Amino acid sequence: MTQHLTVVDHPLVQHKLTLMRDKATPTAQFRQLLGEITQLLAYEATRDLPLENRSIETPLETIDSPVLAGKKLALISILRAGNGMLEPLLSLTPSARVGFVGLYRDEETLLPVQYYFKAPENLAEREVVVVDPMLATGNSSAAAIDLLKQAGAKNLRFLCLLAAPEGVARMKEAHPDVAITTASLDAKLNEQGYIVPGLGDAGDRMFGTK
Ligand code: URA
Repeated sequence: MTQHLTVVDHPLVQHKLTLMRDKATPTAQFRQLLGEITQLLAYEATRDLPLENRSIETPLETIDSPVLAGKKLALISILRAGNGMLEPLLSLTPSARVGFVGLYRDEETLLPVQYYFKAPENLAEREVVVVDPMLATGNSSAAAIDLLKQAGAKNLRFLCLLAAPEGVARMKEAHPDVAITTASLDAKLNEQGYIVPGLGDAGDRMFGTK
């Protein structure tokens, strides 16, 4: 069985993550670093993608050579911070299909409420890669994956920059079949639901909204 949580401890990832955590790092560099780490995480998170052979002609001979099998990947961004991971992933897998899940937290019930959902067709036949930089409480990630499963998704994996132990536990309870790849398992969540030591609000830092 696939490991539920993979922390990518590659030196390049860890170096870039330190730069992202530094509050002095400006918006443009933060976004650039997020893109670079996303591609390195994706390299790990996709190493078990199924392959099939295709017959091609090199300039010298005909060979059977591996290509990704099945329908094109589906990349799903959890709005809004997931969008910072989307373009870097698309540049690795340019023909992937793309979907978006928008959720906000109801201030009374504290439960995630859907405000937007658009996913590619034939989700059941696709490998689905869900992206959100911060796996904090895990409530919105678990809810997004619920919606994707209701829409037919069967093979899902989750990519995040940072994870809190609470979020990992929530995902393991709700979706033990969804492997998580991250650059760091941080210490905890604080009372405001921020990951500590974390890097602050990922959306604000990548879009410069604060
Ligand atoms: N979302 C963020 O952007 N940062 C956190 O620390 C937690 C959730």
